[in-house]
Amino acid sequence: MASKNYILLLVSSLIYSITLGQSSIGMDNKVTHLLSQMTLEEKIGQMNQYNGFWEVTGPTPKEGNAKEKYEHLKKGWVGSVLNVRGVENVRKLQEIVVNESRLGIPLLFGSDVIHGYKTLAPIPLAESASWDLEAIKNSARIAAIEASATGINWTFAPMVDISRDPRWGRVMEGGGEDPFLGSAIAKARINGFQGSDLSANNTIAATAKHFAGYGWSESGREYNTTSVDDYTLYNVILPPFKAAVDSDVQTVMNSFGLYNGIPATGSSKLQRDILKDRWNFEGFVISDWASIKEMTLHGHTVDLKEAAEKAAIAGSDMDMESYAYIKHLKELVQEGKISEKLIDEAVSRILKVKFRLGLFEDPYKYCNETREQNLLYNEVHQKAALDIAKKSIVLLKNDNNLLPLQKGNKIAVIGDLADDKTSPLGSWRIGSDDETAISVLEGLDNLNIDYNYSRGCKLVEGKVEFTQEVIVNTTDKTGFEEAKSVAENSDIVIVVLGEHGFMSGEARSRTDISLPGLQQELLEEIRSVNSNVVLVLMNGRPLAIPWAEKNIPAIVETWQLGSQSGNAIAEVLTGKYNPSGKLPMTFPRSVGQIPIYYNQFSTGRQEKESHVFWSHYIDEENTPLWPFGYGLSYTEFEYSNMSVKTNNNGEVSASISLKNAGSSTGEEVVQLYIQDIKSSYVRPVKELKGFKKVSLAPGETQVINFSLAKEQLGYYTPEGKFVSETGEFNIMIGTNSQKLSTTKINIASFN
Ligand code: NOJ
Repeated sequence: MASKNYILLLVSSLIYSITLGQSSIGMDNKVTHLLSQMTLEEKIGQMNQYNGFWEVTGPTPKEGNAKEKYEHLKKGWVGSVLNVRGVENVRKLQEIVVNESRLGIPLLFGSDVIHGYKTLAPIPLAESASWDLEAIKNSARIAAIEASATGINWTFAPMVDISRDPRWGRVMEGGGEDPFLGSAIAKARINGFQGSDLSANNTIAATAKHFAGYGWSESGREYNTTSVDDYTLYNVILPPFKAAVDSDVQTVMNSFGLYNGIPATGSSKLQRDILKDRWNFEGFVISDWASIKEMTLHGHTVDLKEAAEKAAIAGSDMDMESYAYIKHLKELVQEGKISEKLIDEAVSRILKVKFRLGLFEDPYKYCNETREQNLLYNEVHQKAALDIAKKSIVLLKNDNNLLPLQKGNKIAVIGDLADDKTSPLGSWRIGSDDETAISVLEGLDNLNIDYNYSRGCKLVEGKVEFTQEVIVNTTDKTGFEEAKSVAENSDIVIVVLGEHGFMSGEARSRTDISLPGLQQELLEEIRSVNSNVVLVLMNGRPLAIPWAEKNIPAIVETWQLGSQSGNAIAEVLTGKYNPSGKLPMTFPRSVGQIPIYYNQFSTGRQEKESHVFWSHYIDEENTPLWPFGYGLSYTEFEYSNMSVKTNNNGEVSASISLKNAGSSTGEEVVQLYIQDIKSSYVRPVKELKGFKKVSLAPGETQVINFSLAKEQLGYYTPEGKFVSETGEFNIMIGTNSQKLSTTKINIASFN
């Protein structure tokens, strides 16, 4: 039987090669040829995506039973499946469509490979704190290598949603608050996933999501409505998507939110006008999970049929788990409500992605058991995961150089998260098992650091499952006394606090972003018996922790760092690695300041007045706890000699001298911001337009150069027109968005 199957496979691969894959006619011709052979049902089938035969990330529609799906596979009525993992399972499904359906068009296998497959890298927000585009690209490359070895050929990543609201749990999945940094990261991730040759067996199609404005979920509440003005849309939300399209991203996922009162899934302006027409996007649009069906729940369509009509017309090419297209598109075509031409256009986009992946040449190219066995979680991948984990850590405070730890000091370690091998994996842990992260305690053990550990208190009650709510411990303080005594009898106390791994991510919004449960109280108790406290934070979003900022001498932000978490943290605590991360998102002092972000507009009442009528709070400062771009090092960097020149073409070159004035080698992210001082539309007080990460030995000085093209000085009008306006600009360079040297220039013309 096995050998018969094998021969069948060889023959079918050969037929693919001759008829479709290696033909000399161009891809367009191949697609046209294939389309001409397809029935309407088969075409609509390509626009249909089913979840694997079990529930994973959302409510599975009741009608979606496995038997029916199997029948649809055999008829060629399925273009893709998601959440099917493992070579064996992938092969089984691919064999059904290849061998049993009339035309044998291979399936796309999609999955949320967000920050690794089995080897988990830091969560994307953490990686973004590295500002190291090569390391970020490499991390996505490794994710693709592992995922593709298990049969996956398409990831629903990167999430490129800009967000200014840390209450929203999905900020963990993105690149932070800034469109320039977010665009650079989007590009790096897509290049990593898709590699230089999409048809190789270790590269996978990427997805830029969620198009568009999902990060604007009102009040940070997941799946809430969104309201975005066009000026913000074009200048803040769309740039990372545009960068993704320019990086040849193969698919774009639409969003659960609204745009101008219309669900994004039904928005022609977003999907057709901007994405496909204006940007020439050549891939296809996948709906988000049931987002077509949810258009009726929004009140935009009367039923599933109208939802199918509106979504297809608006340019949503593939239906993820709404069952809308498979049930209603045929009827809609027959009734003349949707043209077959529109269907052909969507299907040809989908088929082209399959061609580009090389699936017609070999539908089983991702089904190699040897690769699956050998590539996952290997040493090279672990090493890379450690490298980016270290780079993602941000040193927030280090009074009197309390860190790195000094030899001979008696060390206490406190906190549930210090001993946690699951939380550091973060959300979206896809092919990785619970309890596989290196904990902080293990990381210290691996460096032979002696310590006394006391938990203090549990963070959550019981084991938390991905689909369950997290129940935080708010009552059990029985471990406090022991923890205090361990802390009191030590020279230095490392307190590891933050969020459980499932307190951020999809559907994990919070109204209170302080330390959850009893942790704040524990921290204060520990501080009352020992002033040498190092707070190690582990969290998936910016936290509001003003008391800690005021009272704790050393604070290290470690996010959720993935498989190698504890090793990375131990290397930073001991000084084996000098921290170099910078915040990709502002940390507020309190939830009441949200949204708070560095690239805000000037108001008419910005300056402090002697009277009360200026833009401020009566109970809180305007400034953030820590600003965008902020992060310290164990060494000191000195900036001097800033110089800025501009030529007749409006190009700007800027430089600054950077000296490592401390005693250890360190990396610094030098940041360049601009301000268009007066313009037709009000521009932000600062906009990041360049950054460079450099490593300097003690005493070393380097001149850091930047050049800005005309495009970097322009902006979009609310109509989406890109304009560059002459006049005065501030050019600012420095170590974070608030500590900058400024030079004013005048741009007379942009020739
Ligand atoms: C819903 C999420 O919003 C989306 O990002 C994800 O890719 C799909 N579920 C599939 O898991």
